[in-house]
Amino acid sequence: MNFSFISGEAARASGELLVIPLFDGETGDKPPAPLAGANSALEGRLLTAATQEGFKGKSDQTFVVHSLGRLEAERVVLLGLGSRARYTPEVLRLAAGRAAKTAQRLKARTLVFAVPETQDTPAALRAVVEGLELGAYRFERYKSSAKEDKNAPKLTTVRLALPGGVEKTKEHDQAVALGQRVAESTNWARDLVNEPPNVVNPEHLARAAQEMGREAGLKVTVGNRKEIERLKMGMFLAVAQGSVNEPKLIHVEYTPKNARHAKNPPVALVGKAITFDSGGLSLKPTDSMVDMKTDMAGSAAVLGAMRVIATLKPPFPVHAFIGACENMPSGTAYRPGDILTSRLGKTVEVTNTDAEGRLVLGDILTWATEHKPAAIIDLATLTGACVVALGNYIVGAFGDHDPTVYDVLESAHTAGEEMWRMPISELQKDALRSEVADMKNSGERWGGSINAALFLKEFVGDTPWVHLDIAGPSTSPKERGYLGKGGTGVGVRTLVEYVRRRTNQLEGSEAAEAPAPKPARGGRAKG
Ligand code: BES
Ligand code: MN
Ligand code: ZN
Repeated sequence: MNFSFISGEAARASGELLVIPLFDGETGDKPPAPLAGANSALEGRLLTAATQEGFKGKSDQTFVVHSLGRLEAERVVLLGLGSRARYTPEVLRLAAGRAAKTAQRLKARTLVFAVPETQDTPAALRAVVEGLELGAYRFERYKSSAKEDKNAPKLTTVRLALPGGVEKTKEHDQAVALGQRVAESTNWARDLVNEPPNVVNPEHLARAAQEMGREAGLKVTVGNRKEIERLKMGMFLAVAQGSVNEPKLIHVEYTPKNARHAKNPPVALVGKAITFDSGGLSLKPTDSMVDMKTDMAGSAAVLGAMRVIATLKPPFPVHAFIGACENMPSGTAYRPGDILTSRLGKTVEVTNTDAEGRLVLGDILTWATEHKPAAIIDLATLTGACVVALGNYIVGAFGDHDPTVYDVLESAHTAGEEMWRMPISELQKDALRSEVADMKNSGERWGGSINAALFLKEFVGDTPWVHLDIAGPSTSPKERGYLGKGGTGVGVRTLVEYVRRRTNQLEGSEAAEAPAPKPARGGRAKG
């Protein structure tokens, strides 16, 4: 998608669709300028029609009307934003997603978007760009009918009209560029999630990481079974041993160019990458198995975030650690009753081969801690219990290092991803007690997502760590705002925001420590 800015009245701009977002009640006596302009060009009929059709600017309303040649635009799209008091950029992101879907349905190539007046125009711009780009996403590679449709018009050109009185600045260009990079990377992650498990196997995922790294300028190292054996990742190996597809160990590194920055402790991102979770010998019933190609969504989000982080160039290293494999039943599969030795040395009795994610992640988390990171964030489609607790749209956040949990929650909030802190109470720890080993991999049903988090915690030592259970929000059951049915790419935006936040924190503390700047000499320095 191509984004540009237009100056002057949105209502007079050319483009097939004129999109005007409106807060609740703005269709009344004092409509905002873009609506007033379009309405007067239509001799008052726009507001009459909208009112008669019941459009009030409520948060899920979309109203489309033909301009009958009275405007440059062929149609006007009014987007409800709900009450202004409840506005966040996410409201606008969701609405822009609806606009993109409307544009596609109408086969429009060009669109004019009247950015509404808000407190923070760069944040609004970013939300608009992300919403449009994410809302236009479709996964149709395998539909023959869609292939015939290849030449059907696609939304390619977006003209952004700033609110009245706001002058365009460099910050606005940067917001658009960042929004675009974030949304493209989220769509890239969505593709990996939506591709079938006979395509995205561990090898494919590793290759995708390598290709991405080559384009983005990141170092990517891939190890196979031999390397995993050398690293004594007994839990990872056990989960992988039932599949004919070889497991892959993926390490992606961003290192700052500046030598001093490169010495800062890294941020470690860990993603669950079960390319298909059949449950193993503790086989899942068909209905629960059918979507288990999405059990690698955590790693897709981590890789998608790295794709953005490479362009952000933060002043500290960022590493991604991924253990990719398939969880399959077979004559070589690991069994309930097996006792495994983890990389850390702790032994684990397998009581359910379907609790495989925590086994792989346990070894990968240990490996991550060995790189002495400042913090570890893991993303995993870990438990059905978390979906029961928080539903399809809210990420569960676990961890007992309050400052890091807080940073991640704040990042999620800024990024517009819903996240809720969950307890990681030791009261549940009995659930993992084993008679024959240091612990077992699955306990009682109650508090299932906490038990899983407690299991992971055994492998992170003292490193500040946040575990994000994305089993629910990794896929959407239906179209909503900028989401389609299927992979959502959840986590990309939060991780990117976390790195931006940490960049600001670090630069803030560096500025505080640095000696006062010398008075400028010569003519070039500015105050
Ligand atoms: N990948 C699943 C969790 C999952 C469930 C993800 C639904 C997405 C949607 C995970 O490996 C799993 O099977 N968890 C078990 C754990 C249990 C055996 C302790 C579960 O949640 O039932
Ligand atoms: Mn499982
Ligand atoms: Zn799983």
